[in-house]
Amino acid sequence: MTTSLFGKDILDLQLLSDDEIRLIMDTTARYEKVMQNGGRLMNLYGKTLATLFYEPSTRTRLSFETAMLKMGGSVISVADAKTSSSAKKGETVYDTGKMIESYSDVAVIRHPVTGSAKELADGSDKPVINAGDGAGQHPTQALLDLYTILKEKGKIEGLTLCLAGDLKNGRTVHSGAALFARMGAKFIFTAPEALAMPDEITESLRKKGVEIEIIPDLMQAVKKADVLYMTRIQQERFEDPAEYERLKGSYEVTLDTVKAAKKGLTIMHPLPRVTEIKTEVDSYEGAAYFRQAANGVPVRMALLALVCGCE
Ligand code: NCD
Repeated sequence: MTTSLFGKDILDLQLLSDDEIRLIMDTTARYEKVMQNGGRLMNLYGKTLATLFYEPSTRTRLSFETAMLKMGGSVISVADAKTSSSAKKGETVYDTGKMIESYSDVAVIRHPVTGSAKELADGSDKPVINAGDGAGQHPTQALLDLYTILKEKGKIEGLTLCLAGDLKNGRTVHSGAALFARMGAKFIFTAPEALAMPDEITESLRKKGVEIEIIPDLMQAVKKADVLYMTRIQQERFEDPAEYERLKGSYEVTLDTVKAAKKGLTIMHPLPRVTEIKTEVDSYEGAAYFRQAANGVPVRMALLALVCGCE
């Protein structure tokens, strides 16, 4: 049986229906259970995933590749697409899409330019998954974040999520805010003024009736939040290095932050962290960021199987 996700590009979650989001969550839970029980999944046997990373990645790339291999599929990969692929010779992402469709069944791309995953998808007839396009979107991160919240909290509807850090440049919070809002979450946005959530995102959420409080002080914000979603200040998106230096230490989550917080606070972070969460917080039971990273594998297994029509 194939579903409506068969052959679909995953570029922006706004293009998926609520039913499709639920299907991804349910398929993830099913696969996770099989693996926990020591079972094996071979759904993607004979299929090939191409990974094209024009920007650094550890978790996203490794978890996509692990997901494919765990389901019996194969992976072809350009390790450092920016310098070691034909991009260096001036090939467009569109032309790369034209090529990649004959080599693989599905492609995952990360690129510094917003819109480039769409450009690859325009070139390729096979499904393309956006693994981060500049400061634009990071849909698969938002899906694994949703899965994590559902697992950690048992629900998302009615919860208050504090999105904190670099809300201007962080693509994970751009994808996440739209998705979590759809699922019934409320928000606190915690950022230095210069790194506030882009107005068009805040306005479009408010227009839909989503409750948003702006609380720049982290200690005040965590008193009201059920989940703290911390992000890294995105150094690579700053034009002025002095501005990065000024803002880089804006927030630091410590055990004192946990003490000040509402009881049971769940702390998430897409990782990598720099200085925004101290390692002393890792042993706090609500520190969910490494569990969150682990959830990337079953979520990406589900996505790959669904877009390949092999669920
Ligand atoms: C994020 C990214 O690349 O946007 N990392 C990730 O995929 N887990 C977050 C970041 O780099 O800060």
